[in-house]
Formats: sequence, structure tokens, C-alpha cells
Amino acid sequence: MAHDKQVDDVSGVEMTGHEWDGLRELNNPLPRWWLWTFYVTCAWAVVYWVLMPSWPLLDDYLRGVRGHSQRAVVMEEVAALQAQRATAGAGLQEVSLEEIQQTPDLLQFAMANGAAAFGDNCAACHGSGGQGATGYPNLNDDVWLWGGTLDEIHQTLLYGIRAEHDETRMGDMPAFGRDGILNRQEIRATANHVLTLSGQEPEEGADLALGEELFVNNCAACHGESGEGMRELGSANLADHEWLYGGSLQAVMASIDQGRAGVMPAWDARLDPVTIKSLAVYVHALGGGE
Ligand code: HEC
Ligand code: HEC
Repeated sequence: MAHDKQVDDVSGVEMTGHEWDGLRELNNPLPRWWLWTFYVTCAWAVVYWVLMPSWPLLDDYLRGVRGHSQRAVVMEEVAALQAQRATAGAGLQEVSLEEIQQTPDLLQFAMANGAAAFGDNCAACHGSGGQGATGYPNLNDDVWLWGGTLDEIHQTLLYGIRAEHDETRMGDMPAFGRDGILNRQEIRATANHVLTLSGQEPEEGADLALGEELFVNNCAACHGESGEGMRELGSANLADHEWLYGGSLQAVMASIDQGRAGVMPAWDARLDPVTIKSLAVYVHALGGGE
């Protein structure tokens, strides 16, 4: 719609011709400060396009004179962090396990490194929190088959238990039933005696005299007369209330029958020395370290 130019009587300013319910719009010029700010931002945008990454292209983008890249900045930061980690890791390699425990920086690194490696390599057998399962020891408690000092744990990790390694920990309980050393009735009597060692009730009518005699003759050499176990052999303590394979009559009879012989892999050839040290410190800190 074309309009004749109209001028407002009161202010003397030209009008746009827009009208709403009797209100008419004046055509005042934009304020100077506003216009200049607008020009400056336009100029700034042009400068920014030239200097910084700006427009997308078909298979690339305008990189800008400064060649700035957020990704490159992140990569640099990651590289710096890795270099810092490598230095901390190298520090771990040279010092003893006790020193790692006593040096806050090294300890912090070892714990983080150990926790990650535990999740990747150990949790499948020992549980994500090291709580263990039947046949797989709980690493949180202070019950140890082979010993819970830093060095003993380190050795277990390096060479494993009944693993394929020349220096692996060895302790073989015979399969008394399977190999025909004891018959069913003798196994039952011995198992009932084992129950009494940890203060459990034997089953009714159990031949405890026979059980004790068989225990002394066949078992005490490895487990001790009162069933306290021996760490050099990894023979379980039968007098505590912690069972690797279960403390019921049935489970104890199965242990005597088969001899169990759980295998823990050797990590010597699979993990680097710094990771194995970290794991030893981590497992020691789980709660049962000696
Ligand atoms: C394939 C299963 C398996 C994996 C994987 C495994 N373990 Fe074990 N681990 C065992 C078994 C089984 C035993 C008990 C062996 C025995 O009867 O003496 C054991 C024993 C141990 C012991 C000795 C406990 C004691 O009471 O003396 C430690 C410590 C241990 N494991 C730590 C680890 C760590 C750390 C890892 C990861 C690097 C790991 N294990 C990975 C099966 C496994
Ligand atoms: C040559 C040494 C040796 C002799 C002899 C031996 N044991 Fe063992 N026993 C072990 C070892 C080592 C273990 C550790 C478990 C494994 O093999 O994984 C064990 C484990 C056990 C367990 C499982 C404990 C648990 O926590 O679940 C029972 C039960 C047991 N023995 C009872 C006996 C009885 C009873 C006899 C005698 C009839 C006997 N053992 C003779 C070495 C021996």
C-alpha cells in the first residue's frame, strides 16, 4: 500500500503510515550509538571469519589464518597427561612396593592403575569388588591361602598358582576319593571330623574316632593337626569359618574326593611390571592386606 508522507502534528516527525487502534508509528531514525555498535559487530564478524575456523565447505571447512583447532588443543592436553603418567609409571618401576605405599603421589597412581587393571583382568574370576565366589578367593577379607603381605601378593600375581610358570605356587591336595586312597565311608568320617575343627556340628552317628585318625594320618601334614593350614602349601585353614569351596558336609566331602586344585593364572608374561606392582598395592589395600 502506498502512502502519502504524513507528518505528526505534535512532534513534527514523519510517520510510517502504520496504525493500530488509533496509535500511529513515527519514523524516528535509529540512535547513533546503536548503529555504530551494529557496524562494529559486522566488522568483527568479518575479521573473525578471516582469523578463525568459520564456514563449512563441501568436504572440509575454512580453517582461518590462525589455524586454531579445538581438537588439536585437546590432543596436546592428552599427550601431556600421558607423558605425566609415563613419568609416574616409571617412578613406580624403580621403587619398592613399600615405598609406593608411603609416597602419596605414587600410591594415588598405583591405586587408579590397579583398579582399572583389576576390572579388566581379575574381576571375571574374583568379582568386580574382589569379593570372590566359590573356588575364587575373596580378596577383601584377611583370610589368605598364600599370604597377604605386599611381597606375597606380588609373587602370587607374577607367577600364579598351579599355573604354567616355572616359579608358580604349588600345593597339591590329593584327590583322595578319585584316586582310591580313601573309600566313601572314610571320606565321610574325615569330613565330619573337619566340621568339628571349625566348631560345626557333625552329622548324627558320625565315626569321629575314625575321622580323627584318618585326618592325622592323611591330612595333618598339609593342614596341621588342628586344621590351621600352611601358607607355604596354600593349604586352606579348615578351622576358620571362611570356605573357598563351602563348609557343608557335602562340600567338604567333595573337596576330599576331588582335591580341588584351583588355578590362578601367572601375569608375568601378560601384564607389564608397573601394572603388576599397581595391582599388588591395590589388592593389598582392598581391606585384608597384612
Ligand atoms: C581364571 C580365574 C582367575 C583370574 C582371571 C584371576 N584369578 Fe586370582 N585366583 C584364582 C584362583 C582359583 C585362586 C585360588 C587358587 C588356590 O586355590 O590357591 C586365586 C588366588 C588369588 C590370590 C591369592 C589369594 C590368597 O588367599 O592367597 C590373589 C592375591 C589373586 N588371586 C589375585 C588376582 C588378581 C590381582 C588377578 C588379576 C590380575 C587375578 N587374581 C586373576 C583365579 C583367578
Ligand atoms: C599335599 C597337601 C594336602 C593334603 C595331604 C591335604 N590337603 Fe586339603 N588342601 C590342600 C590345598 C593346597 C588346598 C587348597 C585348595 C585348592 O586346592 O584349591 C586344600 C583344600 C582343602 C579343603 C577346601 C577348603 C575350603 O576352604 O573350601 C578341604 C575341605 C580340605 N583341603 C580337606 C583336606 C582333608 C580332609 C585332607 C585329608 C584327607 C586333606 N585336605 C589333605 C592341601 C592338602
